[in-house]
Amino acid sequence: MVHRQQMVVGTIKVMIFGAGGMLGKDLCEVFPDAISFTHNELDITNRLLVIGAILDNSPDVVINAAAYTMVDQAEDENELAFEVNGYAPGHIAEGCSQIGAKLIHYSTDYVFEGTKQGYIESDNPNPINAYGKSKLRGEQEIAKNTDNFIIIRTSWLFGKNGKNFVDTMLRLSPQMEKVKVVNDQFGRPTYTADLARKTAEIIDMEPGIYHITNNGICSWYEFASAAIKNATPCTSNEYPTKAERPLYSILNNTKTTQMRHWKEALNAYLKETKT
Ligand SMILES: NC(=O)c1ccc[n+]([C@@H]2O[C@H](COP(=O)([O-])OP(=O)(O)OC[C@H]3O[C@@H](n4cnc5c(N)ncnc54)[C@H](OP(=O)(O)O)[C@@H]3O)[C@@H](O)[C@H]2O)c1
Repeated sequence: MVHRQQMVVGTIKVMIFGAGGMLGKDLCEVFPDAISFTHNELDITNRLLVIGAILDNSPDVVINAAAYTMVDQAEDENELAFEVNGYAPGHIAEGCSQIGAKLIHYSTDYVFEGTKQGYIESDNPNPINAYGKSKLRGEQEIAKNTDNFIIIRTSWLFGKNGKNFVDTMLRLSPQMEKVKVVNDQFGRPTYTADLARKTAEIIDMEPGIYHITNNGICSWYEFASAAIKNATPCTSNEYPTKAERPLYSILNNTKTTQMRHWKEALNAYLKETKT
């Protein structure tokens, strides 16, 4: 077991998987001394490599930010999505349990069907697309292999180190007279820099599932309108995608302090990324 008094960032040994991703890079900034692995350096679907890396390095905490995140493509690459999002987190949990390390892992609002006025941590998941199903399997595989885990469900990530919705809007805006954006899917946009800092803050909290997002609720159209001037609303029917999306996948956080409003986080992001 990792003891609470050890859990002071800077004194604990942290290992990060998925260090090259959008959230992974922000985590590396928050945990500058962490032992980190990008996809090229370690494939988390390789069970023996994963367990070997954990045993060799003996971290107190393993943070897994690696994932298969292409929601539409997951419909066609179901098997790969399940390997990365479903079974690999189980391998990491197995390694953690062998040395008593705590596992911090990220899941998604897409484990819910999106038909309820917000979901708390104990609500029953019911994913409606392949990505959501693969992420739910990851949660289950972790729980099968260790009880010393924190699963952070989050949503609508944007950050300076990855392809994200805000950047897409900023790129499309000058190229089009009007940018059509769906106005009937609602969520909580979340800035990866805030999420990475919050991860450090809750590292020593009780094991379990946490819902962590920036505060506030909006549609994709409202989110876009906060970044560009020429967004125009449309319905999901007018903008069909391969994977069905939950319409109202609001994650309610009942376990820890709230983060700042998404608009404030977006302004910080726009300021930080302004060239
Ligand atoms: N993005 C969102 O809106 C969102 C919303 C809710 C929850 N989440 C969750 O938040 C977490 C972080 O997401 P993110 O947006 O930062 O994702 P991301 O930018 O796509 O980063 C994921 C990283 O995982 C790596 N990876 C993929 N397969 C791997 C494998 N087999 N072994 C090792 N690394 C592998 C990717 O490398 P390559 O690029 O080389 O494949 C990439 O560097 C994920 O768990 C995701 O499911 C994201």
